[in-house]
Amino acid sequence: MSHKLGCIAAEKKIPILGQFELTARCNLQCKMCYVCRNALDKQAISMEKTAKEWIKIAEEAMDAGMLYLLLTGGEVFIRKDFRDIYEELSKMGFIKSIYSNGTMITPQIAKWLGSMPPAQIDITLYGGSPKTYGKVCGDESGFERALQGIDLLLAEGINVQIRTSVIKENQEDFERLAELAEKRGVDLSIVNYISPRREGFCTNPEGERLNPKDLVQYEWRVNNYYHNKMEKSKGEKQNKNSEDELDDFVAQPDDGHPFQCNNGKSSFWITWDGKMIPCSLLDDPYTLPFETGFSQAWRDMTKACSCVLTCSTCKQCSLRDYCMSCPARLKSETGSFTEPASYLCEYAREMYQLSLDNKLTGGLVNEKVHKTYFRND
Ligand SMILES: C[S@@+](CC[C@H](N)C(=O)[O-])C[C@H]1O[C@@H](n2cnc3c(N)ncnc32)[C@H](O)[C@@H]1O
Ligand code: SF4
Ligand code: SF4
Repeated sequence: MSHKLGCIAAEKKIPILGQFELTARCNLQCKMCYVCRNALDKQAISMEKTAKEWIKIAEEAMDAGMLYLLLTGGEVFIRKDFRDIYEELSKMGFIKSIYSNGTMITPQIAKWLGSMPPAQIDITLYGGSPKTYGKVCGDESGFERALQGIDLLLAEGINVQIRTSVIKENQEDFERLAELAEKRGVDLSIVNYISPRREGFCTNPEGERLNPKDLVQYEWRVNNYYHNKMEKSKGEKQNKNSEDELDDFVAQPDDGHPFQCNNGKSSFWITWDGKMIPCSLLDDPYTLPFETGFSQAWRDMTKACSCVLTCSTCKQCSLRDYCMSCPARLKSETGSFTEPASYLCEYAREMYQLSLDNKLTGGLVNEKVHKTYFRND
């Protein structure tokens, strides 16, 4: 979705982007994942919302203005009724996207999806080899299946993006992942910030994610890789992201709201067990759309988000431009909206040092590269 459109909707508090987390269950068990119940977890199955409930809430969201819809999990293809849900949502005309690990995509599924394609499907590839993939997700064979899934989708003409989430185990694989994406003519995007908690499923996020110094060094490597490519291919066709999104490269207006993004203003997330939250990482504030109806839940959530307290230390901090803190990240790191987070402070100090060492100005290493290749969601 265009950033400008998101901002206009945010001003009017229209829930233009919905994100449905259809299940917490997954066939893989990634070390850092915040939502990965076992595929056969009976308790999780019993708490999932039914296809009928998701379709009804989508109808209500459509009436309230939802146009874009992301379907994610867990792993959406693990739900036996995913086809029913997807087909009904397609009839409603949403601009749909899907997040998946790609390992359950069969030729039949790819063909079926190709007959009513999403605008985009993001396949997360957790390593550049079976070995790394196995270390991150617990299943080496998933690497080939994910690549096969990507290729099957591409063969059906579906718009695929490869994404990855960087942790200690796969930090060396960036170039290999970039090559795998380039070979297929698709974009690679990177989730650089790993959240330490949401539902507490992840056993040891602190142990899995990069320390701030290594994360900044990783980002610098990615930055240089793409910066060089952009320089070389000036005039040629670049990454689709850079074409579409850089035109749209506008700063978020400072409207005095505690959230400097559009979450909780024009976008929302509904968890697998039925809570409406502002974004995937933040389970507070939440409302209950399946109980109160969508509109009431949306009104209550936007109101609650606008009342979230902000961190006064962060507000006055001289490293703000170098920091990736936001209310969701502070809460996720510290359990409080008002406490600075040591992980984020250290990241900001490292980023500042890097910019001094390389005589760079501004907070981010190369803001355009950063915006294009790193993902916040
Ligand atoms: C939870 S997964 C669900 C969709 C699908 N199973 C997949 O792997 O893409 C969605 C995205 O969240 C990322 N993710 C998982 N755990 C995370 C965490 N603790 N912090 C930030 N992102 C995380 C994943 O790497 C993936 O790109
Ligand atoms: S990140 Fe995706 S693939 Fe990995 S365990 Fe979580 S839901 Fe499953
Ligand atoms: S988290 Fe730390 S570095 Fe970031 S703005 Fe707050 S005090 Fe500054």
